[in-house]
Amino acid sequence: MNILVTGGAGFIGSNFIRWMKKHAPEHRIVNVDALTYAGNLENLADLPQDEGYRFLRADIRDRAKMNEVFFEYDITHVVNFAAESHVDRSIVDPELFLSTNVLGTQALLDTAKQQWKLAPEDKYSREFRADVKFLQVSTDEVYGALGRDGLFTESTPLAPNSPYSAAKASADLVCRAYYETFGLPLNITRCSNNYGPYQFPEKLIPLMIHNCMQGKPLPVYGDGMQIRDWLHVDDHCSALYAVLTRGTAGEVYNIGGNNERANLDIVRLILHTLGAEEDLICYVKDRPGHDRRYAIDNTKITTQLGWAPSYTFEDGIARTIAWYQNNPQWLENVLSGAYADYYERMYAPSFQ
Ligand code: NAD
Ligand code: TYD
Repeated sequence: MNILVTGGAGFIGSNFIRWMKKHAPEHRIVNVDALTYAGNLENLADLPQDEGYRFLRADIRDRAKMNEVFFEYDITHVVNFAAESHVDRSIVDPELFLSTNVLGTQALLDTAKQQWKLAPEDKYSREFRADVKFLQVSTDEVYGALGRDGLFTESTPLAPNSPYSAAKASADLVCRAYYETFGLPLNITRCSNNYGPYQFPEKLIPLMIHNCMQGKPLPVYGDGMQIRDWLHVDDHCSALYAVLTRGTAGEVYNIGGNNERANLDIVRLILHTLGAEEDLICYVKDRPGHDRRYAIDNTKITTQLGWAPSYTFEDGIARTIAWYQNNPQWLENVLSGAYADYYERMYAPSFQ
């Protein structure tokens, strides 16, 4: 496979590239990332640029550039991580989320359709190259919120509540249309909340670890009893590989590891692991439209593709906390913006 990974300098994308280098190094990867505040090349600093891996700074909405990349690298697969991904930011600036997450995805779909179609000028033809696939990395948040009971299955109606999840749901619907109308071979995955190394410290787990290490208050929204279904990022990556290589075209696959936790329990676990006092917890005003509970039914991916998570939460979270403790410089660089200089230092000399 010649895989275009978009958003590969972000949290899950960079972990996916690492996972691929370890478990399936025979495939070539082109990482395209716009390097927004969330994109950080330091996440992949130890990975050499060679035949098997290339980084290119580009925006997925730039159709001319995407066409060039597909052509130059003979892209056969796309794994689309590129997105604005933080719910709180989407409340402040919804338009950016619609632009990147919806129109960016559509630009990629159009490029793939154009490049992979056997008769690109024939609008009725549904014939594509045999060896191609587009994988849209989506989220369980498109299903909205659950009450105390029940699980999200692939046929749960879409009912997004935040501008972020509305944008992701819209992108999913555009993907669906490109499969139904044009026959573009694709899959959509909907994963629960991820945790692990290299996550930007604006999301719950790295934010709480960082604040705890600094002795700063831990801002818990509302009553802290909202529930998320947590999955280690490596388990998400192995699920994506399973769908990319074995998923049936046109299908949606939910990804989750049956690991529901209340936010407050996570915060307490981090506090206790780091030996801090509970009085660091600070209850703050709730997020508007805050989803109460997410939980995934993973029957389809486990039974049809034979995927299973490998981490227990206890092991995964202990390793994750240790990673942030052992990489204070990474945290400091990300938060100080110093990481933005990294690109210039690494790449500017080769452009002269
Ligand atoms: P992230 O914010 O860490 O990374 C997003 C990456 O996309 C960044 O590197 C950013 O620079 C890049 N990007 C943003 N706009 C771009 C553009 N226009 N063109 C090119 N690159 C652009 O996000 P993440 O947590 O790694 O999430 C990756 C994907 O997985 C997202 O699509 C998200 O919706 C989905 N997802 C995330 C989770 C989670 O728990 N983090 C769970 C399920 C699904
Ligand atoms: P987050 O990591 O932003 O992921 P998402 O909103 O996509 O699930 O938040 C996870 C949960 O933690 C969510 O219920 C909101 C809550 N939360 C806090 O209580 N305090 C915080 O500072 C943050 C960032 C999140």
